[in-house]
Amino acid sequence: MDLMQDIINRAKANLQRIVLPEGTDERTLRAADRLLTDKVAHIILIGDPNEISQLTTQYGLSHIQEATIINPVHHEKKEVYIHLLLELRQKKGMTPKQAATLVENPLYLACLMIKAGDADGEIAGADNTTGDVLRPALQIIKTVPGISSVSGAFIMFIKDKSYGDDGIMVFADCAVIPDPTADELTQIAVSTAQTTRNIVGVEPRIAMLSFSTKGSTSHPRVDKVAEATRLAKKMAPDLKIDGELQADAALVEAIGLKKAPGSEIAGKANVLVFPSLEVGNIAYKLVQRLGGAEAVGPILQGMAAPVNDLSRGCSSDDIYKMVAIAANQAIGMKSAK
Ligand code: ACO
Repeated sequence: MDLMQDIINRAKANLQRIVLPEGTDERTLRAADRLLTDKVAHIILIGDPNEISQLTTQYGLSHIQEATIINPVHHEKKEVYIHLLLELRQKKGMTPKQAATLVENPLYLACLMIKAGDADGEIAGADNTTGDVLRPALQIIKTVPGISSVSGAFIMFIKDKSYGDDGIMVFADCAVIPDPTADELTQIAVSTAQTTRNIVGVEPRIAMLSFSTKGSTSHPRVDKVAEATRLAKKMAPDLKIDGELQADAALVEAIGLKKAPGSEIAGKANVLVFPSLEVGNIAYKLVQRLGGAEAVGPILQGMAAPVNDLSRGCSSDDIYKMVAIAANQAIGMKSAK
């Protein structure tokens, strides 16, 4: 299956308004131009209009004039957004002066636009760290009902098509929660199931990974993964999930049969939930670099609206794909409402 093309087609069929706060970044502008040419989404660029215009000419882009361009310093809704930010953050100690300054920060402005209903999703991070992209989103957009922890998943396109579903797997959390508790691991599993259904379009088979399979080792870290598996089964009784499993038992049928006989996941997993961010972040990069897999993400999950972070090493093509993914998330969230 050509999953990425399916995702792009779904976005084209139901255009969403995606805000790109790094509106003067070259890769962002090139991606925006292609997205507008291909009619994948309505694009909102945040940045100095004169600079965007000059860069558009310099890069020879032909469709940027179809984007909505918002100057973060002067625009008609500035007072509305200052008021909104203050309303949301006053109880956390934010002063009117701080709100008036922060609203000019494109990363805050993008989240305020989403919160106010003026945009459906955001992609940023080509020029900013994960923390700087996530913090305003966590403070302003917050989480969906039933989930209190945001996490980040990657869709992995593995070369060996015998893994996952035709080589497609979902890895999480690879981006957000450094040292998750059992409850947070449970939420990562449940959110990743939702991402797998909404974006990949398949039923998740989740392996909760550890360095032990079904009690082969005794350690508090192993107990945490086993506890998270138990909690996830309670939170979502229909979920196909098993743990704790070692990676080989999760992926290879013969090993799964030996180490976890009777498991409906061992040897068949298409979703891997990692026990910590260290493992998740390192694992996806190793599979990508040493295994030659394509990694698309991080797709932030559990947030009340799609906000997706980019790696600062991203390409224009990565931004194009992440916009299409955010549009799919927005469509899924609207239809769930
Ligand atoms: N889910 C939901 N809300 C959260 C989460 C979460 N995972 N983490 C923090 N929050 C909320 C807090 O409750 C707080 O809300 P409040 O202000 O309304 O009370 C708000 O977000 C800010 O919380 P802080 O603790 O002040 O934020 P912090 O400075 O810890 O930043 C962050 C949170 C950015 C997610 C941090 O945990 C982090 O940096 N994580 C690692 C990110 C990273 O470096 N990833 C690896 C690179 S990504 C890649 O390679 C693809």
